[in-house]
Amino acid sequence: MTDRRAVGVLDSGVGGLSVLREIHALMPEESLYYVADSGFVPYGERSAAAIRERLDALTGFLLDLDVKAVVVACNTATAAAVPWLRERHSLPIIGMEPAVKPAARVSRNRTVGVLATQGTLASGRFAALLQRYAGGMRILTQPCPGLVAAVERGEVDSPATERLLQSYLDPLLAQGVDTIILGCTHYPFLRPLLERMLGSGIRIIDTGAAVARQLQRRLAAEGLQASPGSVGKVRYWTTGDDAALRDFIGNRLPMALRAPVSRVSPCRDGAMAGPQLPHT
Ligand code: DGL
Repeated sequence: MTDRRAVGVLDSGVGGLSVLREIHALMPEESLYYVADSGFVPYGERSAAAIRERLDALTGFLLDLDVKAVVVACNTATAAAVPWLRERHSLPIIGMEPAVKPAARVSRNRTVGVLATQGTLASGRFAALLQRYAGGMRILTQPCPGLVAAVERGEVDSPATERLLQSYLDPLLAQGVDTIILGCTHYPFLRPLLERMLGSGIRIIDTGAAVARQLQRRLAAEGLQASPGSVGKVRYWTTGDDAALRDFIGNRLPMALRAPVSRVSPCRDGAMAGPQLPHT
């Protein structure tokens, strides 16, 4: 059985594009509809209730486009809203969380740093994750205010971003971490800068590829995969500045992922509103 409908992918902004590119690399046959809630970024400083409200609107928008699954390509939104969303919708909803388990496998000195938003680090879901997988490890957490905004502006290697990042890395390096988890989907866009700053002795782990594999398993289990060999369509919507999203995609994603971008007005009576492109 195959299913040509698109997979919906959402995030507070451009961060989830780091997951979208992994999904496309693994399953180029899948059509992908991406919604960036850049009108409401950053989620990391919002309450769980406010994030749930946004996720409700974004998911409703994607369901109107008849998606077959939703990937919440955002650690903060997963922590705040994924169990709640799953209670409301029966389609597969894939969330993500900082890669504590893989980090526990690779760290040699058992000392791991987690860069993430305040919202993710303060969540009960993150506490539960540590309880499950961090036994015998020193896990040092570091919230990174301002970093998501820098990535949203496309400033992934400016001197100001480097200084900000250095201020978040210093406390972790002082404690001897040998592994750093990127616990926010915006941060993989900083990876080249991070690699330059950290040198080769420190491992950097992010979850995009693992989320893509999880999506693949789930689609297969439910008979929802697109037919192999077909070419998926990609479309983007944003509640923020569509020209900025277009630029970001043009500068940071491979050719095959360049596709139409539309602006949607963020909310109308609690629902997303805007020009709905025909989903042929
Ligand atoms: N990209 C998001 C994450 O993975 C959240 C960034 C934000 O809006 O604060 O946590």
